[in-house]
Parts: sequence; structure tokens; C-alpha cells
Amino acid sequence: MNGTGYLHRPSSVGILACELYIPSLYVEQSALEIYDNVSKGKYTIGLGQQRMSICSDHEDICSLCLTVLSRLLDETGVHPQQIGRLDVGTETLIDKAKSIKTVLMQLFVDHDNTAVEGADNINACYGGTAAIFNAIHWIESSFWDGRYAVVVMGDIAVYSKGSARPTGGAGACALLIGPNAPVVFESGCRATHMAHVYDFYKPNLNSLYPVVDGHLSIQCFTSALDTCYTQYCTKSQMNHETHTHTSTLTSREVNLSTFAAVLFHTPYVKLAQKSLARLYLNDLIRACPYIPTAITEKYKNLDIRTLLNDKDLEREIIDQSKELFEQKTAPGLYFSQNMGNMYTPSLYYSLFSFLMSQPNEEQLYGRRILLFSYGSGLASSMYSVVCRKVHECRFTLAQLQRSIQRAGHRLDHERVEITPDIMDKLLLEREENDHKVPFIPKQPNEILKSGDIYLKSIDKNYRRYYDKFIANDNSESNNNNTEKSIQQLYTEYFQKRQTSGDTNE
Ligand code: ACO
Repeated sequence: MNGTGYLHRPSSVGILACELYIPSLYVEQSALEIYDNVSKGKYTIGLGQQRMSICSDHEDICSLCLTVLSRLLDETGVHPQQIGRLDVGTETLIDKAKSIKTVLMQLFVDHDNTAVEGADNINACYGGTAAIFNAIHWIESSFWDGRYAVVVMGDIAVYSKGSARPTGGAGACALLIGPNAPVVFESGCRATHMAHVYDFYKPNLNSLYPVVDGHLSIQCFTSALDTCYTQYCTKSQMNHETHTHTSTLTSREVNLSTFAAVLFHTPYVKLAQKSLARLYLNDLIRACPYIPTAITEKYKNLDIRTLLNDKDLEREIIDQSKELFEQKTAPGLYFSQNMGNMYTPSLYYSLFSFLMSQPNEEQLYGRRILLFSYGSGLASSMYSVVCRKVHECRFTLAQLQRSIQRAGHRLDHERVEITPDIMDKLLLEREENDHKVPFIPKQPNEILKSGDIYLKSIDKNYRRYYDKFIANDNSESNNNNTEKSIQQLYTEYFQKRQTSGDTNE
């Protein structure tokens, strides 16, 4: 390093390590179908969802982000002084001025590091991708000082009662970004489509809930997908022609067969399946050589822009692309299917899910993964990452997979089911307590896991205080007992509120 910056130019910039947040409570979508009195299968088959994560009043957006960042530092052993940039992506806003990034600076205060660039990035579900792009740009710029960047993204996705509510969820993740990474952001291969639309937005600053035109949002998502894919394929091909000697591309034409995985922002699983089918339709119309001519012949004169609402064609293409979907997209859907829409981190949970699904990391070396990020309003980008074997680096693909597997274990074995009735009460209470001060969370705190950072209180000046939960050996009892008692504890909690007159109903 000298006075004008860090002289060593970084290469293979990408994801070195990650940490995922798994909320402890969930509701079964099949139980929600009965509770909402909709036809059986509407949420589980129509939307493709199994479970939806719910947060208690000890969890707010800052507690989720603090928890994943704190765990990332603990698990990787990266010293806070080694971090020179921290970007946050979220749409769960609790303050119109103070960023969540500054709240996270609490984890740096004891380590004498205030020299951390970056702030919050906001545009619906796109904020996480914007944060990642900022982190990459810093490392690849003349301002890089040789330290790591961290990206934290998270959301508590809640909808008002009605058709959008089953597409809620919650999640957060922290990514350590730096050079010589096992998952590298491919250079020169990025497509972007931005436009002004009112498909999903949060204009009422006193409400937790978005104003959403669900069907319009799906149309906007799909046309952004078409535009980004066309642009990505063109740019990627040009990139290959200009840099044939350095490019990771093995063949000139880019199409779905190029990628080991094709992953999407996933508000619900069915939309990811439709999106893969949509890209396949793009490939059919382009008569890509991996599809037999006898099949492409039927589609060659179609104009993709006129095919947004053709349900029969959509069903036909979903059917034809089933095998591609099973190979390239379905392995990325485990977290989304079981947690719901997480907004900003949704696409990255798909990446984690895909990486977790691959038993042998060697098979991933050299493989490209296509990612599509969408945030309503709208902002969208398509880009790709490549998996690689690292040399002389302590952050490997196998380690990345192990931290995702730990989250997978928490998802499968450490969560507690609550009934839709309790879920409704939790959401109502969250709605009522939003911006109520002073505030002390009162719901049962038995859901907290050792190491979780939770909301302790909010004072009359809206200042939020957090603490780390450290469980003693007896407090995390065996899961069956915990599950039974937590359901019971929540039922009793709401009964008590009702009888004391301190009720939401
Ligand atoms: N069995 C099987 N399938 C069923 C059943 C059933 N019993 N009932 C309905 N379905 C199918 C429908 O046919 C439909 O399929 P299709 O998508 O292939 O047409 C699907 O389930 C959904 O049913 P709809 O009647 O269209 O659902 P509804 O209008 O009630 O709401 C929506 C769906 C619009 C996704 C709503 O949940 C919503 O607004 N969500 C929030 C917005 C959103 O997630 N947008 C996505 C991008 S933007 C973002 O990420 C926030």
C-alpha cells in the first residue's frame, strides 16, 4: 500500500464466506390454506410453497443483520479491523435517515475500526444486489486498501391479510467479499434493466405493508427477465469474442446449456419454475443448438414481447423445460420453499441452496451459475458467478458449503411450527407495536438461539438496544420438548394479553 492506494490489483473477486439467518418460527402453508379458506393446493401447488418463516418481537431487521455479521466474524476469524467496507441491502426500513450499516458499526467499536465505507442500499428486493455491486466496485477500484468487504442483506417480508400474505417470509445473510474467492463474480457479464412502475411499493411510512399489484409485479418481473437475458447473452458473447484468451466461456453462444445452475429472485417457488421456462422459451425462439430443430421450428417466428399473458403457452413450455428446471433451478429452491420470500437475500439463498445441494465441490469447479435479481419499482440485473478451486487461500468452496449446511440443519431440525392463528396474532402485534415507544419485547424469548443478537428495548427517543443471547446448557432443551412448550408459551402469552385487556383484537 502507498499514499495513492493499494498497489496490488485484485483478481477473482467473489464470495469468500457466508452466514445465514434462519428464523426459529414457521407456519405450514397447508395449514394456512385451511385457515384462509382457500382451495387446497393454492399455496402449496399453485405457489409451490411449503413453509413460511415468522419473526417474534425480539427480532427486528437490525437484530437479524447484527446476528449474521457477528456470526460471520466469529466463524471466519476475520478481525473487524480487516474489514474496509460494509454495505447493507434491505427494504425493511425502521428509520428514514440512520442506516442499518451504522447500527452494525457496534460490532466494530471494541476493535478500534471506524474506517469502514458503505451505507444502506434500498430498492425493494434489489438492495442486496446493489450492495454486492458496490462491494465489488470498491475492491476493483483505485480506492481499495487491501481489506475485505462485507455485504449484509435481510428483510422481514410481511403482507397485509389477503392473497399476498402467503408470499411473506424472513431471512438475512452476511457475505465476506474479497479476491481469490471460491465463488467469483464473472467480469464483463452483467445486464441491467431499470424502469418506473408501481407494481409493489411502500408509500405509507406508517405501515409495515407494501401496496402491491401482484399480477402486474409478475408481468414486470417477466419482461425484466426477458430484457436482461437478451442483454446478458449479447454482452457475454461480445466479452468472449474480445477476451477469448482469458474468458471462462467455453463456447461462443450463451444459452441455458451454458450454466450449471440458473437462479432467480424467488418470491415463491412457482415463479422460479415459470422464469426458467421463460428463458427456455427465449432459447426456443432463438433456435439454440442444444434444442432439436424439430422443436424450435414451431416457435421460431414468435415475438417474446407479445407472450406475457399466454397461459396455455406458459403451461406447454413449463412442461417442456421440466428436466432443465429439475437440474438447474430446483436445487436452488430449498430455503425459499421452506422460508418464503426473504426479499433482498432471496436470490442469494437460492445460490446457497444450490451450493449445498452439490455433494462434491470438485464437480463445481469451472461451472458457471446464472443469477437474476429483481426489485419492484423496478430495478433488475442478471449476472453470473463461477466456482473455482482456490490456491493459497483459507476460504474454500467446501467451507462455504459447510456454513450453508449448518443453516440447512437449523432449518430442518431447530425450528418450531406455530399455528396460522398464532401467526396472525404475531403479525397483528408487530403491526401495532411498529414505532411504538418506549417498547420492550414481551413475547416468549425461548425461541432465541445461543449467539443470536436480539432486540432488548426501544427507549422513548426511538433508540434501539440489542444484546447477545447466550444459552446455558439447560435452556436449549431437546427439540420436541422445545417445540411443544413454545407453541404452548405463545398460546398462553396471547390468552394472557386478551384477559388482561391488553389485546390486539
Ligand atoms: N391448486 C393448485 N393451483 C392453484 C390452486 C389450487 N387449489 N388455486 C390456485 N392455483 C394456482 C393458480 O392457477 C395460479 O397459477 P398460475 O400462476 O399458473 O396462474 C396460482 O395458483 C396463483 O393463484 P392466483 O389466483 O393467481 O393467486 P392470487 O391472485 O391470489 O395471488 C400473487 C398470487 C399475485 C403471487 C400474490 O400472492 C401476490 O400478490 N404476491 C406478492 C407479489 C409478488 O410476490 N410478486 C412477485 C415479484 S415482486 C416481489 O418479489 C415482491
